[in-house]
Amino acid sequence: MAQESMSINGSRFPFDPGQTILQVAETNRIRIPTLCYLKEASPTGACRICVVEVDGARSLVAACSTPAADGMVVHTESPRVVASRRETLALLLASGNHNCAIGSGRENAWSAFQMRAAASDGGEDLCPAWGDCRLQDLAYHYQVEGGKYPRTGTRYPTETVNPLIVRDFSRCILCGRCVQACNEVQVNRAISFGYRGAAAKVVAGTDVPLKESQCVFCGECIQACPTGALVEKKARFVWRPWKNRTIRTTCPYCGVGCQQWLHVQDGRIVKVTGVEDGSPNQGRLCVKGRFGYDFIYSDERLKTPLIREGDDFRGASWDEALDLVADTFKTIIEESGPDAVAGVSCARSINEDSYQMQKLFRGVFKTNNIDHCART
Ligand code: SF4
Ligand code: SF4
Ligand code: SF4
Ligand code: FES
Repeated sequence: MAQESMSINGSRFPFDPGQTILQVAETNRIRIPTLCYLKEASPTGACRICVVEVDGARSLVAACSTPAADGMVVHTESPRVVASRRETLALLLASGNHNCAIGSGRENAWSAFQMRAAASDGGEDLCPAWGDCRLQDLAYHYQVEGGKYPRTGTRYPTETVNPLIVRDFSRCILCGRCVQACNEVQVNRAISFGYRGAAAKVVAGTDVPLKESQCVFCGECIQACPTGALVEKKARFVWRPWKNRTIRTTCPYCGVGCQQWLHVQDGRIVKVTGVEDGSPNQGRLCVKGRFGYDFIYSDERLKTPLIREGDDFRGASWDEALDLVADTFKTIIEESGPDAVAGVSCARSINEDSYQMQKLFRGVFKTNNIDHCART
């Protein structure tokens, strides 16, 4: 049977049954903007920014949730599509404290609004997501400024009581990506949509602060949020993309080996995110991997080996410490045989190190006394 195909912007593309218009476009490097679409979750069609024009269809359709069909003729940037996206963006910009450059427009009340946003933020800095916001990117792309519609007041105060995460409802566009990330990607089921209409809100549990809910502070929702509505508490107003350098690394906490981006400013890590296309985590991190980097800068951190002398420890070089360990192993084995020593490898080591350690004990020391702390 001949493969089904469709036309996008005048070119014909084959597709597999079940693919959406968005998937066919992305496969063929045709950009359709999205806000609510989260790759690993079921599409909701909530934001309407991905609308496209389909010949024969009365209204514009959401590319993220509309299946491709044989013979379909799609236009992704027609005047009607662009006008619809501009309208959607104008409404979203009017929906809260969008006090970055695109939020300003030519409003006479800009300074009053700015002061209100600053009061709500608890500081005079501009939005913590400035430069890393999909809404802002799209507003620039489609040349939309705030101010076309009167701003709606913000109904819910910013939630700052949680450790690690700040929830700023004034910049929430109700796209639902956080809800999907929590429920479908991490399967923590801590947040959902609550209330209706203008009162709609992403709620944790029965609308309690995150810290009183089932939230495990994995931060997946922050990574999914396209605006400044969810931000890392430690990085809020500190992390700025124009000051930032990213370094890819492997999480030091366990043997899963999650891939991380370290966001570094002035030589210090200011936040950590998951590498979206990196295996094995595909962008996910747990609370330790995402937030547990403060130990690096602790004054109490051990940076050199310590050798016990009586009741005290003294600092030593790595050569001295390793020689002492090797000599002590040799002495014990010479005096009491190889089964007098045992090793427990650390779950925070990488798998390869644990493998090397069992080789050392079995192949060199000639004992099977080797175990791994994860078994405890
Ligand atoms: S959330 Fe995005 S659009 Fe809104 S103020 Fe912040 S950067 Fe601007
Ligand atoms: S931090 Fe994790 S568990 Fe908590 S709401 Fe976000 S995604 Fe859900
Ligand atoms: S908090 Fe962010 S991800 Fe969640 S609904 Fe609001 S804008 Fe979307
Ligand atoms: S991205 Fe398709 S409706 Fe939001």
